[in-house]
Amino acid sequence: MDKKKKDFLTLRDYSKEEIEYMINLSSKIKKDRNLYCDLLSKKSIALLFNKQSTRTRLSFEAGITQLGGNCIYLDADSLQIKRGETLEDSARVFSRYLDGLVIRTFEQKTVEIFAENGTIPVINGLTDTYHPCQILSDLFTISELGLLDKSLRLTYVGDCNNVLNSLLIGFAKLGIDITVGCSQKYEPSKEILEYVYNQAEKSGSHIKLVHDPSVAVSGADIIYTDVWVSMGEKDSEEKIAELSKFQVNEKLLSFAKPDVKIMHCLPAHRESEITSAVIDSKNSIVWQQAENRLHAQKALLVYLYS
Ligand code: CP
Repeated sequence: MDKKKKDFLTLRDYSKEEIEYMINLSSKIKKDRNLYCDLLSKKSIALLFNKQSTRTRLSFEAGITQLGGNCIYLDADSLQIKRGETLEDSARVFSRYLDGLVIRTFEQKTVEIFAENGTIPVINGLTDTYHPCQILSDLFTISELGLLDKSLRLTYVGDCNNVLNSLLIGFAKLGIDITVGCSQKYEPSKEILEYVYNQAEKSGSHIKLVHDPSVAVSGADIIYTDVWVSMGEKDSEEKIAELSKFQVNEKLLSFAKPDVKIMHCLPAHRESEITSAVIDSKNSIVWQQAENRLHAQKALLVYLYS
């Protein structure tokens, strides 16, 4: 296992073995919250966020505390970066005070600049392109269900966003099949598709794009969806109308397996991409999914700091 990597910017940089290692570690940590409780003793990790967050912020704050560390929340607008101090200079200064940095921001380039110019581990807490912490955690959740293997039929439906990009990379790395139910007008970028098709060829996974929602979810074990308009994206009536046929509702569920599990990384826009009848149903595992952000992020920190 390559232990030289110190950042977590995208799952592209992680091998199947490293991802599986962190999934297994998440499970151990979930069973015993006191494991590694001194690992981050006397260490300070900051969260530099310039987008809103509930789950990522709280799970990192709680997780860092449970590992014995000190967590500092930084509102990006309150720093000198807002007045023009460069990201490169900020990265150098942050490295003189801190032991790690979790960043939630717009451009992937920003997390890369912090990683390149600083000496401390940088974790991507969401960018417009990727959400690797979410997907590491989701892979753990699917593994808890006993479904993370070659026979899994998971369909992601709706907007092709940062969550889907990371989901595709995770599945392609692990060699597990995935179907995407999406509009022809809003497919994943060519660059992402090229990368994941290439990875899938190596790992033996099959990635399918399907434009008919009922066909996409046919026989699915898991249906995963996310918001139609991401943070920082302009509201578009045209896009919402285009994606409306991908709403996860009771009718759509009727095409999947009767015990299909429903995943959503949250926050949900009820009656938009998912109905309350579905998110509140017995099929929904969204609260287990949200809880697991804590355990998976602790596992990631243990991996980076051990
Ligand atoms: N799923 C997720 O990242 O939630 P937050 O935006 O609340 O952090």
